[in-house]
Amino acid sequence: MAFIGAEHEFHDPQFVQEWADRFIPSPERIQLFDTIIESVANHSNTTAPIRIVELGIGPAYLAERLLAKLPNAIYQGIDFSTPMLGIAAARLTAYKSRVTYTQADLVSEAWGSKVKRPVDAIVSTWALHDLGGEVNTKKVYQDCRNLLLPGGIFLNGDFVKPEDTPHAFEPGRFLVSRHLDILREVGFNDVQCLITLEREIVNPTAAQNYACFQAII
Ligand SMILES: C[S@@+](CC[C@H](N)C(=O)[O-])C[C@H]1O[C@@H](n2cnc3c(N)ncnc32)[C@H](O)[C@@H]1O
Repeated sequence: MAFIGAEHEFHDPQFVQEWADRFIPSPERIQLFDTIIESVANHSNTTAPIRIVELGIGPAYLAERLLAKLPNAIYQGIDFSTPMLGIAAARLTAYKSRVTYTQADLVSEAWGSKVKRPVDAIVSTWALHDLGGEVNTKKVYQDCRNLLLPGGIFLNGDFVKPEDTPHAFEPGRFLVSRHLDILREVGFNDVQCLITLEREIVNPTAAQNYACFQAII
């Protein structure tokens, strides 16, 4: 039985640059990004500004695509990594009038107070599994519920533990059904899994098995 998880050094500039180079979006990840972008667009008034927060913006691959496709998006990227925020800012130069960056640790009481309100949408990909497990994920889900305007939308595309796998997964990667339950427990409505991607239960790598959850407040 294998243990599926990843070691990260997100405060090390060399590790961060290598991570960004290694994970230039694959077609499946672009499908994840487009699922999120389409959902935000469908949920929003097409002409009014859409105030969007991204948790764990990383190298800004989602942000770049979203800002290109949604010209009325106003974006706040959150990350605790100085080198990631630097890479994000360099990638998003063309959109700098619509983007701000906030350095914050999502495993802290204070991160929510750094978010500029009001917030119409909160998005994230491949980040919240790094928070250490269900308790911290639930706290962030709860914070997001409290930050969003009534009618706001939350979209998290993250690694999960697939059903029926014989392998052990790091605690931050847990079942889709548990994510959906937690989102309902903290008060979201219309909770659903929009898509699952790169499902592999026999011989999974740490970069497979992810899903996109949508929740409305
Ligand atoms: C695996 S990367 C994914 C980056 C990006 N979202 C993507 O999909 O390409 C995870 C990101 O979350 C950030 N991150 C991890 N733990 C964090 C925490 N506790 N607080 C804030 N950011 C965190 C990392 O610095 C990194 O940028």
